[in-house]
Amino acid sequence: MSNDKVTITDHRTGKSIDCPILGGTHGPAVVDIGNLQKKLNLFTHDPGFVNTSSCASNITFIDGDEGILLYRGYPIAQLAEHSNFIEVSYLLMYGELPTSAQLEAFRHSICHHTLLHEELLRFYRGYRYDAHPMAILVGIVGALSGYYHDDLNIDDPAHREMAAHRLIAKMPTIAANALKYGQGHPFNYPDNTLDYVENFLMMMFAVPTETCSVNPISARAMELMLILHADHEQNASTSTVRLAGSSGANPFACVAGGIATLWGPAHGGANEAVIRMLHDIRNPGDIPKYIERAKDKNDPVRLMGFGHRVYKNYDPRATIIRQACHDLLDELSAHNQPLFEVALKLEEIALKDDYFIERKLYPNVDFYSGIILTALGIPLNMFTVIFAVARSVGWISHWMEMMGSEDQRIGRPRQLYLGAEKRDYVPIDIRS
Ligand code: SDX
Repeated sequence: MSNDKVTITDHRTGKSIDCPILGGTHGPAVVDIGNLQKKLNLFTHDPGFVNTSSCASNITFIDGDEGILLYRGYPIAQLAEHSNFIEVSYLLMYGELPTSAQLEAFRHSICHHTLLHEELLRFYRGYRYDAHPMAILVGIVGALSGYYHDDLNIDDPAHREMAAHRLIAKMPTIAANALKYGQGHPFNYPDNTLDYVENFLMMMFAVPTETCSVNPISARAMELMLILHADHEQNASTSTVRLAGSSGANPFACVAGGIATLWGPAHGGANEAVIRMLHDIRNPGDIPKYIERAKDKNDPVRLMGFGHRVYKNYDPRATIIRQACHDLLDELSAHNQPLFEVALKLEEIALKDDYFIERKLYPNVDFYSGIILTALGIPLNMFTVIFAVARSVGWISHWMEMMGSEDQRIGRPRQLYLGAEKRDYVPIDIRS
């Protein structure tokens, strides 16, 4: 008789059930409560699902206490040092590091799907000149479902793979066009002689009046940003894509939902919010006052870029990005960047403050990413767009994993109802 179980007893009725414990490769085991409602007529209650495993996945693993992040078993620090975004994309999608031939075939496929339909370019014109680029990204990616739907059979693995390649290939083009639209500049077409990241930077920064050469230092920094932001288990935006995809919806429409979720300042919008916060603080002397506001429950101010739902230790991505910040600012001779000085001082003061120590609030990936993007000349309102370009690989990898699983079914959380008792309709002429 296996002890791998939890026994739940409802003492109101004396009824009990044994729930199997399922162990994984790393991390806490989970309790399968699939019979709870049938046997005890009970639901579990876990607002925000912070204690709930929503699925089994082979893609990414986080240990929040140890500050560990693995993509298909490979530590993020090793991938950041040795790999590149196209190779990491292959790894997240297919589960293994590619051979040279596999990588070349993948790169060729991505490279030859970077163009957008010419009619899709007209969609940008529907936006106000000052529309937030994330609003544009949600719309244009959602609109891809209008171009790839009727002949898309999501039950066919080859069709799912092509949808994934198309998304990964087109995200930089869509994102760069969003920047250009806001600037009133002409869009740049992708250049197949450039690699993925150089192409992205060229499409964002090239203008017809100048020759454009991509700074290799900037390309390496952007490569690192995309690798570090590519996936992160069942975060809010990835969970949105999975839930939308579980209904059989078009994958591009599902990813548009993920983009919308990522936009929030509590999630991917934090990198933009961090820079706004650093500008608000202005100089190191204002830091203690700002930290007091962040600790005050009656003040909505939070220390943006600090804290995490899962990491109760240092976010390993923040460690890597912090060093990359130093290196990039030195290489670009921008080390006196005032925002970086304020960020370093803010981190130093906060990490000595009992409020943050007791609550294990450390800098997360967003704390430094905005400084790198600022140093690369990326406008503030494009920060979360860059995050979305990276995370689109994680989103589509999770969509493929879910759609390819044997027990794929529509997601349907339940609730604790606290509303009115059952009551009869009251005609309006006798209502008080
Ligand atoms: C991302 O899920 C992912 O993996 C996300 C992400 C990814 O790659 O997909 O990692 C990307 O979204 C990173 C997080 C970016 N967001 C921010 O930097 C925004 C600022 N941080 C927060 O708003 C907050 O920390 C959250 C939203 C990230 C987490 O919120 P929680 O789960 O409510 O935090 P918690 O439960 O750990 O809070 C414990 C305490 C609370 O106070 P008490 O009730 O104990 O008194 O810490 C406080 C919180 O109020 N707190 C903060 C704080 N974060 C938590 N207080 C001040 N400033 C903060 N930043």
